[in-house]
This record gives sequence, C-alpha cells and structure tokens, in this order.
Amino acid sequence: MTTQRFNIKNEKDVVLARSEVRAMARDLGFGVANQTRLATAISELTRNVLNYAGSGHCDLNDESTADLLSIRVVVEDNGPGIDNIDQAMQDGFTTGGSLGAGLPGTNRLVDEMKIESRPGLTKVEFTMSQAKV
Ligand SMILES: Nc1ncnc2c1ncn2[C@@H]1O[C@H](COP(=O)(O)OP(=O)(O)OP(=O)(O)O)[C@@H](O)[C@H]1O
Ligand SMILES: [Mg+2]
Repeated sequence: MTTQRFNIKNEKDVVLARSEVRAMARDLGFGVANQTRLATAISELTRNVLNYAGSGHCDLNDESTADLLSIRVVVEDNGPGIDNIDQAMQDGFTTGGSLGAGLPGTNRLVDEMKIESRPGLTKVEFTMSQAKV
C-alpha cells in the first residue's frame, strides 16, 4: 500500500490535490468517469477544509488488490467541527452561504463515505473501487 499526503492551506493546494488524485487514479487504471468522480470529491472535501477549518490534509491510499483497484481517501482537519452531520449531509444545507451541495454530492459519487467530527477533529473518509480488467 502506498500513501500520498497533501497538506491543504490554500486554493493552490486544492487544485494540486485534485490533479494528483486524478493522475494516481489514471495510473492505477481507473476509468475516466471514476477519475473525474475522485477529482470532484477531493475538490469538494478539501475546499470545505479551507472554508470551514482554514487548513488540513488529505491522504490518498492505494489499497488495490489482485483483482480490485481501490483508493481510500482521508481528508482531515483540526477546525471547529461539523455541528450536526445528518444536517450537513442534506442537499442545500450550508453555513457558508454556498449551495450546500458538496457533502451530499460527494456521498453520491463515491463508494462509501464516513464522517467523524468533533471540535478539533473532522475526518471524512471514502473509498473508490473498480474491478481490474
Ligand atoms: N471540514 C468541515 N469543518 C466544519 N464544518 C464543515 C466542514 N465541511 C462541511 N462543513 C459544514 O457542512 C456544511 C455543508 O457542507 P457542503 O460541502 O455540503 O456545503 P457547502 O460547503 O456549504 O456548500 P458547497 O459545497 O455546495 O459550496 C457546511 O456549510 C459547513 O457548515
Ligand atoms: Mg462544500
């Protein structure tokens, strides 16, 4: 298993993480649709880190096996935390005057998403898998 860590401190870091996950997915053999899903998911989650926590990091783990391509993504910050996770997962819920589409949209794009949050630690984790051909 290999892990790549991206520190997220500004908009450039979001763009870099987005392009690196796409490159990693492409190199592993993921199809273009899944590459795009991954890039979009990373972009939403790391932008939330910037907007709501100020900074954080994103780990990309290649957990592929003999017959399955699999990337596990962990996005973490030490910000104030998400008050109510169920509410944050609803389409249209935002405290940032935005669309409130990031978390519910990401949840629909990826295979399994888990959120853990309390003041000082927010962790969003998901995997994306695809059968090897
Ligand atoms: N890392 C985080 N730390 C603290 N709160 C967060 C974090 N990520 C999301 N939230 C909270 O969850 C809400 C919903 O997030 P979501 O990404 O779905 O929407 P948004 O960021 O408000 O708008 P959009 O993503 O559509 O621009 C946010 O408005 C914010 O209150
Ligand atoms: Mg968002």
